[in-house]
Amino acid sequence: MSEQPQEIRREDYKEPDFIVEKVELVFDLDRDVTNVKSRLFMAANPVRGTGKGDKVFLHGEDMKLLSVTLNETRLASSDFTVDQEGLRFKAPGQNFIAELETQISPANNTRLEGLYVSQSAFCTQCEAEGFRRITYFPDRPDVMATYKVTINANKESCPVLLSNGNLIDSGDLDDGRHFAVWEDPFPKPSYLFALVAGDLACVEDSFKTMSGRDVALRIFVEHGNEDRCDYAMDSLKRSMKWDEEVYGLEYDLDLFNIVAVSDFNMGAMENKSLNVFNAKFVLARPDTATDGDYERIESIVAHEYFHNWSGNRVTCRDWFQLSLKEGLTVFRDQEFSADQRSRPVQRIKDVNALRAAQFPEDAGPLAHPVRPDSYMEINNFYTATVYEKGAELIRMMHTLLGPDGYRKGIDLYFDRHDGQAVTCDDFAKAMEDANGIDFSQLKLWYSQAGTPKLSWQGDYDADAKQYRLTISQKTDPTPGQPDKQPLHMPISIGLLGADGSDLVAKTVELTEASQEFIFDGVTEAPVLSFNRGFSAPVNITTDQPDDELVFLMGNDSDAFNRWEAGQKYATRLMLSAIAAYEANGGDVEAAFADEQARVDAFIAAMRATLTNDDLDKAFRADALVLPGEAFLSEQRKPANPEAIYQVRTALRKRIGQALSDDFANTYHQNASNAAFTPDATSAGQRALRATALAYLVASGEDEFADVAVAQYGTADNMTDQMAALSVLNNLDHPGRETALADFEERFANDGVVLDKWFSLQAMSSRDDTLARIKDLMSHPAFTMRNPNKVRALIGAFAMGNPRHFHAKDGSGYAFYADRLIELDDINPQVAARLCAPLGKWAKYDADRADKMKAELNRILAKPEISRDLYEIASKSAA
Ligand code: PHE
Ligand code: ZN
Repeated sequence: MSEQPQEIRREDYKEPDFIVEKVELVFDLDRDVTNVKSRLFMAANPVRGTGKGDKVFLHGEDMKLLSVTLNETRLASSDFTVDQEGLRFKAPGQNFIAELETQISPANNTRLEGLYVSQSAFCTQCEAEGFRRITYFPDRPDVMATYKVTINANKESCPVLLSNGNLIDSGDLDDGRHFAVWEDPFPKPSYLFALVAGDLACVEDSFKTMSGRDVALRIFVEHGNEDRCDYAMDSLKRSMKWDEEVYGLEYDLDLFNIVAVSDFNMGAMENKSLNVFNAKFVLARPDTATDGDYERIESIVAHEYFHNWSGNRVTCRDWFQLSLKEGLTVFRDQEFSADQRSRPVQRIKDVNALRAAQFPEDAGPLAHPVRPDSYMEINNFYTATVYEKGAELIRMMHTLLGPDGYRKGIDLYFDRHDGQAVTCDDFAKAMEDANGIDFSQLKLWYSQAGTPKLSWQGDYDADAKQYRLTISQKTDPTPGQPDKQPLHMPISIGLLGADGSDLVAKTVELTEASQEFIFDGVTEAPVLSFNRGFSAPVNITTDQPDDELVFLMGNDSDAFNRWEAGQKYATRLMLSAIAAYEANGGDVEAAFADEQARVDAFIAAMRATLTNDDLDKAFRADALVLPGEAFLSEQRKPANPEAIYQVRTALRKRIGQALSDDFANTYHQNASNAAFTPDATSAGQRALRATALAYLVASGEDEFADVAVAQYGTADNMTDQMAALSVLNNLDHPGRETALADFEERFANDGVVLDKWFSLQAMSSRDDTLARIKDLMSHPAFTMRNPNKVRALIGAFAMGNPRHFHAKDGSGYAFYADRLIELDDINPQVAARLCAPLGKWAKYDADRADKMKAELNRILAKPEISRDLYEIASKSAA
């Protein structure tokens, strides 16, 4: 970075002066020098009115420009200018053809944006602004063109040649090369362009659409992985069916391809008809993937498929509108998973993810609205706020409109905007117009950052049989937004009678800072179940008495809130124990000394859940897991990672000891002799059994560590094996090293699986963890050039090991900052994404905060820091 990066602002949006109607690309693929020829059929943008000037600007970065030709006349170098941002020249008229020739070097592309090499294959990643690293182009999503792509490559090393759309020609060339020509009839923005070429194996299937068309489905993987594609393929077919049934949306081409690559910055990418996936979200076989992996594969395959409509057919006008496609598509994939599996368990998972990533983001230095107002580097805005909070916003629309009203709005949206690049306002307008309602206040969720805090007060009048509920809301200031307005949100509530049944179940609409709701005909003093199903993404500050929480844990008809009541109880218990631990100079026994009665009541409620066979096993497994260390540190200021770890571990030990007979029963009763199947019911059974094993081991009895060792040795599937290994991982037990060594040997050549092994060790609570991580950096399978490896070892340490990352002596911070500095020269996008944990300094004591800030400043002092890392580090240090 030569100068300080500029902020790009949403309000500065201008329509493009020139558009591209058609693109013809010819690639001559070579690892070191790839030649790209492009023919752009350009026109003055009719929306801007013709004759608005003749200056043409095409984005371009890190390329060698060989020639510029306009209407078949090659320009002299004095007729155009090229700088770090792109190419400028004078338009020869309203309509013209620009031809550009560039050279790029895929093998040297370590940023993994544009055209790069993964293992032996060529692949591209263009979202958000990677296309400008392939050729000069107006690389912005509101320029939509049709593409015709010719790929020339060596036939032996690249038998497979793919791009978007339909294959229209192919054949042999001289010198052992061959070619393929692809044409995509749907106009698309450049970020949806894709090319893949390599020696890949292919697994094929097909899908008959609702109008009876046959679509060929292909998954391309490295040779040897053909038997790990079944679940991704099955997920794809179920997604296609679901989108027809629930949204009335049909696939629009005769071919749909998925390619799995080992080197990828993110999860997956929805390029038109040629989705490119991080291999870890495609490959699964019972002995290599856990139930969690299967679940993620299903949801990511669905997510990318759903983008074909929400993202591709209707796309974003500019990158500030990113949540238009991402929030909507996340909501769609969440609902798909809820329909395929258990709805409450899915909701728990989604809310846990929101609380783990989005709430802290909204409360920290990087807080931004769902539709940001400015950015330096758009790659930094693929955030939990844009994705997950964006999905909550769509969910609230769904709740407020009901399924039919929502569907009317969706139908109008796709009808009205098919083939266009639009805004979040356009989406909300379609919802409003289809339903004749006003969403102006709801739309504040797009522009206002921060998690609202809600409190409530309930009053029961026995004579009038009336319950009055007053709800108040407040949102704290966030960077750049000192004043907040009240938001519009649906709050689902239940009023429970003494027998546990619902006297009232209703969704009210909160619009004011403080508002009263009156419920008549309430025949007895009720217990309130508030914000059922997490109907609004808010924090609740009102404390409900312990006995009411226990009552809700056992009786609420809303399964989400049964879980939520348990989480609240556990959180409250641990927070007071943490305070006592600190007050007693770090004595865990003393921490619980005054809490015995509450601990006992809590354990009794846990036991009731564990042994309630009416409840779904997956739900029971979730309900038995205590809120995590990261969640607890969000509730404390300053957060003391050591105290949080000690108290949570001690409570787990108490639960394990008190319920050891029940857990042992659960463990034995849920053993299975049947062959592994990845369905939700079997997965729930395994999850409950794994939870039981974890508590048994947490109880501290050696015999249970031996049970884990045995399970590792005899399990026939990765889920059970990882369950055993992850509890051994924290122990000083000889079985730990033996199992880890066995795992390493078995999966030495299997990148995706070995990442689990790296992560486990990075997240171990053992005291030698940082030393071990440093050793693992020189493991033959580890490389800073592969994002999955970096995330597995380095990322897992910062995000999944708060106690060692926040070691008092600052060793965790220093190690981490060194890695970010190293990574920034290789892959700035990934370096920036990993930087957020250091930005949380304000949550910690002065000593830790100073050390974290010092590391941020050391990062900022790095010569040639990227725009990506600069933006995150500078905002975090401020
Ligand atoms: N658009 C992708 C998704 O959410 C995410 C992505 C962004 C992938 C940028 C790669 C690069 O599905
Ligand atoms: Zn997406």
